[in-house]
Amino acid sequence: MGFSDWPLVIGHRGAAGLAPENTLPGFELAYQLGVSGIELDVHLVANHLVVIHDDTLERTTNGRGKFADLDLATLRRFDAGNGSTIPLLEEVLAQLPPGVGVNIELKGSQTAEPTAKFLAAYRELDVLVSSFEHRELTHFHRLNPQVRVAPLFHRWRRDVWQTVTALDAWSINLSLKIVNQTIIEEAENQGVKLLIYTVNDLSEARRVLGLGATGLFTDYPDLVTPDVLTDLSLFPDDNAHR
Ligand code: G3P
Ligand code: MG
Repeated sequence: MGFSDWPLVIGHRGAAGLAPENTLPGFELAYQLGVSGIELDVHLVANHLVVIHDDTLERTTNGRGKFADLDLATLRRFDAGNGSTIPLLEEVLAQLPPGVGVNIELKGSQTAEPTAKFLAAYRELDVLVSSFEHRELTHFHRLNPQVRVAPLFHRWRRDVWQTVTALDAWSINLSLKIVNQTIIEEAENQGVKLLIYTVNDLSEARRVLGLGATGLFTDYPDLVTPDVLTDLSLFPDDNAHR
């Protein structure tokens, strides 16, 4: 269960295609649908880790503009969808069912330190911390080297493997737009897992798993399910996917 599953099916921002993203009901739906783990994005507001993707309010709430300087009470008055508030990280973790993994993406600046401190008190969690901000992730890793980390990449860079080594990364989390056979083979040689975002189509999901990816992030954990994906008759070579 959790991050030891194969294939790893991670509910992207909960179940972002089915319920308001990064909200408690969205995460709850993902658990009901049987995900291996959920993914969420954190920002720091008034010394609290809050779960929201953008650094502005308008796309996902009824508020407007940047929220970094708001106090928590004001932030929590906005509707993040169907009457839900923007959750605190601790609220999501409090309702996380046993055995379900959580991927915390450090989205906002200065999230490494509070996340590292916070997780030090939650040792039993099955957790992966990721970020596109590799400096923030490096800072996190120095503070809490016990927790698995994953640098995120939306385009290929020559220093990917250096980053992996420096972070002792558990996985690299790559955009579906850039993944290819060579990258997957190199990852295998480096002994690092590969998780692909965001895969909302079953044939794409089977393709990347067939190439050797370990798992994927999906907005539709009702469609892209471990059961459907592990129907081995659908793989051309059933040895090539772990
Ligand atoms: O971690 C995978 C994915 O969440 C990265 O992109 O923009 O959805 O946070 P984004
Ligand atoms: Mg994310």
